[in-house]
Amino acid sequence: MKPLKIAPSVLAADFTRLGEQVQAAQAGGADWIHVDVMDGQFVPNISMGPLVIEALRRACSLPLDVHMMIVQPEAMIPSIAAAGATHITVHYEATPDLYRAVNLIKRHGCKAGVALNPHTPASVLSEILPILDEIIVMTVSPGFGGQALIPQVLGKITQLRAMVNEKQLEDFPILVDGGVNLQTIAAIAQAGGNVFAVGSSVFSDRFSVAEGIAALQETLRKAKED
Ligand code: DX5
Ligand code: ZN
Repeated sequence: MKPLKIAPSVLAADFTRLGEQVQAAQAGGADWIHVDVMDGQFVPNISMGPLVIEALRRACSLPLDVHMMIVQPEAMIPSIAAAGATHITVHYEATPDLYRAVNLIKRHGCKAGVALNPHTPASVLSEILPILDEIIVMTVSPGFGGQALIPQVLGKITQLRAMVNEKQLEDFPILVDGGVNLQTIAAIAQAGGNVFAVGSSVFSDRFSVAEGIAALQETLRKAKED
């Protein structure tokens, strides 16, 4: 795996030009596309589902990393996989049986992840970690873009990286989601995050998608030199 990946989060894209925006992300060097599925119950917002994922699948060829912020995620896994997701992540807080959900994702041919809300400790993943392909660490309360990163969560990223290293899972994707921007991305990488879901710092009317991605990559490159 390429050491550090940028995953633009389409929640912040201009939905009137979604195809164009993900194509710009792909052309601008994005590694994955991050897709937030919300149901108005697990989080206080409603976003997109299989129909939009299917449209995104036709618009670009990057991995589609689907972050399910819904109750009873098991019910939607088959249709999200069929729509073209490559990675599907369910929340630890959303299901009583993570093994069942993770195995269902894998049976549908996708990489499987678990997401942790900011208050949920790293230790809840200690048993299931060996069968996971990805962890999403929420660094804001899930549901909306444009929020400030909760700095206390950086310590959890470091703990998770240590847990992953202990199990010798090389280059394991720890995706950090929420408040990732030019001011925070270096500290997140330093803590052990290696995939960055970025909404408002990639999709903005102040700069192009390619400029947004390039600035994040440049900040990571500079931080590595120091
Ligand atoms: C929030 C979503 C994020 C969101 C991040 O619940 O999971 O993916 O798009 O947005 P920014 O980067 O603006 O914090
Ligand atoms: Zn997300």
